[in-house]
Amino acid sequence: MSPFLLTRTLPEDATDAALRADVQQGLTSTPKTLPPKWFYDAHGSDLFEQITELPEYYPTRAEREILIARSAEIAAATRARTLVELGSGSSDKTRHLIDALTGLHTYVPVDVSESALTQAGQALVAERPGLSVHALIADFTARLELPDTPGPRLLAFLGGTIGNLLPAERAVFLASIRALLSPGDALLLGTDLVKDEQVLVRAYDDAAGVTAAFNKNVLTVVNRELGADFDPGAFDHVALWDTADEWIEMRLRSRTHQTVKVPALDLAVDFAAGEELRTEVSAKFRKEGVRAELAATGLELTHWWTDGEGRFALSLSTV
Ligand code: AVJ
Repeated sequence: MSPFLLTRTLPEDATDAALRADVQQGLTSTPKTLPPKWFYDAHGSDLFEQITELPEYYPTRAEREILIARSAEIAAATRARTLVELGSGSSDKTRHLIDALTGLHTYVPVDVSESALTQAGQALVAERPGLSVHALIADFTARLELPDTPGPRLLAFLGGTIGNLLPAERAVFLASIRALLSPGDALLLGTDLVKDEQVLVRAYDDAAGVTAAFNKNVLTVVNRELGADFDPGAFDHVALWDTADEWIEMRLRSRTHQTVKVPALDLAVDFAAGEELRTEVSAKFRKEGVRAELAATGLELTHWWTDGEGRFALSLSTV
């Protein structure tokens, strides 16, 4: 069997149908919203890679620090023979973990981007003779069918991306993860932590304006895919800390009263001057809150590691 397999569980037209449904629903809601998954076309993915290197955006550096310091411990605690990574992207972070998992048989990266999966998977196969890579083109929030590979399994969901889900969505997501795990399996979860409001806001509104461009890119995606006539210059990037919900919100504020047409949906969308379209929440966590959310789905938190400055955490939990 080839050491690199690629399985598409996402139907080809799924993306178009999902985008149409999300835009129809989101732009006719009050307040208007669009799901953050639509940021990540090729340009958006490139902008996000730039964001991870910004001085203000600490999460990627903080998580990498933990992975470098703790991968041997994670390997010893799990003895995983299969590593499943949701939203794997370039798999850069994961190399530290893969190198530490000496008994690893199969790596199962899961992402919507076929090009990212192919590039990362083929590089890993070349670097690690004996390692099988079975990549899944899938949306990790949808129901997943994992390939039959040797256990124990370690399922990794890194980057703090779980923070993009609202609390009710997280409960559904964690239950679907729990359903994939058998006794002896484990979940490695990356969570950004609650901290000083200014540090958080700056991480989502950098001085160079890269995050502003990332945020506005979703308008370009809707224009290109659905023929809409959003003018990104007619919206301002907003990043704010919601103290009650303990999440960062990214929004796009309409500078004027304007109407945006979305021909593919036969939709005309009115924006009042100052009206804000919510494009992302990025929830920040506390240890006890993570423990409780995991316990609610039958996962026991067994390890909690943070970077030296206590900005970000990796938690290991078992069924
Ligand atoms: C990739 C979802 C973890 O929420 O910090 C970065 C995306 N948004 N800057 C995050 C993001 C604005 C990022 N995640």
